[in-house]
Amino acid sequence: MTDEIGEGAALGAEPLSGSAGADAPGQGAVARGAEAADGAAVTTGSDVRSEGHGSALPADQDVEELALERAIAHDEVVVLDYGGQYSQLIARRIRESGVFSELLPHHVGVEAVRKRNPKGLVLSGGPASVYSPDAPRLDPELLELGIPVLGICYGMQALVLELGGRVEAADVGEFGRSDLTVNDQGRLLANTPDEQTCWMSHRDTVFEPPPGFTALASSTQSPVAAVEDTERDIYGIQFHPEVVHTPYGQAILSRFLEDICGCESQWSPSSIIEEQIKRIRSQVGDGQVICGLSGGVDSSVAALLVHRAVGDQLTCVFVDHGLMRMNEGEQVIAAFRDTFHVPLVAVEAEERFLRRLHGVTEPEAKRKAIGDEFIRVFEEEAAKLGDARFLVQGTLYSDVIESGGGTGTATIKSHHNVGGLPEDLQFDLVEPLRALFKDEVRAVGAELGLPDRMVWRQPFPGPGLAIRVVGGEATKERLDTLRHADSILQDEIRKAGLYRDLWQSFCVLPDIRTVGVQGDERTYGYLVAIRAVTSDDAMTADWARLPYDLLERVASRMINEIREVNRVVLDITSKPPGTIEWE
Ligand code: XMP
Repeated sequence: MTDEIGEGAALGAEPLSGSAGADAPGQGAVARGAEAADGAAVTTGSDVRSEGHGSALPADQDVEELALERAIAHDEVVVLDYGGQYSQLIARRIRESGVFSELLPHHVGVEAVRKRNPKGLVLSGGPASVYSPDAPRLDPELLELGIPVLGICYGMQALVLELGGRVEAADVGEFGRSDLTVNDQGRLLANTPDEQTCWMSHRDTVFEPPPGFTALASSTQSPVAAVEDTERDIYGIQFHPEVVHTPYGQAILSRFLEDICGCESQWSPSSIIEEQIKRIRSQVGDGQVICGLSGGVDSSVAALLVHRAVGDQLTCVFVDHGLMRMNEGEQVIAAFRDTFHVPLVAVEAEERFLRRLHGVTEPEAKRKAIGDEFIRVFEEEAAKLGDARFLVQGTLYSDVIESGGGTGTATIKSHHNVGGLPEDLQFDLVEPLRALFKDEVRAVGAELGLPDRMVWRQPFPGPGLAIRVVGGEATKERLDTLRHADSILQDEIRKAGLYRDLWQSFCVLPDIRTVGVQGDERTYGYLVAIRAVTSDDAMTADWARLPYDLLERVASRMINEIREVNRVVLDITSKPPGTIEWE
């Protein structure tokens, strides 16, 4: 079976919409790169959910700490978040252009922005009407920093209003794809066509630019869809350049970054690796470091970075709880021990976990049992390593934004990635992915030589297959049946070139048997449910329209190759109302 997965095989699925806010493009799935929630490092606890990341903002006290990350690149562009659904995406797109970008809450204050010494400022979209009493106001001092400013959607409306232009609620909103007519390319829209499509999501509309501004473009419902004042270096666009449905969006962002802000393209996987190695070395010195490895991309990339930095001062602990997918444990061990020569303690703990799961049928009880057992095993191994003072954690930038950050030192918090670990386990945290989005983590992983199969692994819950044996005990026999079915599904999905198009694809084994007939004999076997979804962030998901012939192959292989299975069904529930996992 090959790891090389073809991209772009159409599933024919219309992804679900995001939220209904004014800044929520109506049809969802406009993000270019999916934000993958991964069953990271030592995630097992019942409170641990790698849900997607909304536009929640860092707490004020954490904004200072985030400033540390900017040292990684020389040029930075700050994105001020006015609550738009795609604010994170703007920052990601800027980074895709090779420029470091940080997302800060809109109320962070002009000093916090100034401190970062950014080369440009972007004001994001947001759900409010500029006329609503609770609407976040634009601090006029932000326009006096002496750096170019680009307002997007709400950001544009806020700056237009502040500078004396006319913004009004239009009778008709403009949501989704729209036609943009460029009357004057100006500086911002240079080298883009006179007629182009763009993605809109607004009700308030700019009717007149502020004095001194030029109106560059109009759209179906927006008389003024782009403005600029090159004297003051202030720009605004009503449409969303960050989403795929604005074909010239990335070009417009690049123009702002390179030609207008004068940023150099310095942010790349190799520069990230170089910088992180320096940081890890200076944090850790000659101390011992421990890392809980799950096989997920976050913990794997974090471990590899730390190993590059401090070599054998790092010991990885991989707990094989017997709830992984087919051959996954072997792959982790082969990659880390044999290929990368990382000191690795592989704990063979299947029996222990199965004993603990004996008689447990309720999903939360399963999660708790697995979480508790995991902590026990991890603590035992950590104790054997004696003097490890540092613990590697695969915290991502999205986690920092979503959870309000954290001090990053001292005590382990109840966090996505280490939710199962007790608070009294004292380590200093090493978090080399703290400044990175998921797609950057994958790029760094690829650059470090992590096999494709691990770089592109679909999210997998910490408690593993145990929560996919539904309504009954996760026995060895059932787990083996499920593992086998799952391997057939993965095999066929990979062969069809669909693996990367799906947020997740997996099997569920309910604790029921149904009657069938095989070879003239009555059977009474398990039913396997196929769950495959597309999603941007796991907050919402749509069931994937897998091709019929693929489904047929999968079903017939499962029934022919797995004695215990005599029926295969497909889950066609989206989220909401369903969840992705069945539990
Ligand atoms: P639901 O089922 O709530 O799942 O739609 C949303 C996403 O979270 C993943 N998931 C987990 N991830 N530890 C994790 O790291 C867990 O315990 C866990 N439980 C669910 C799930 O696979 C989906 O991607």
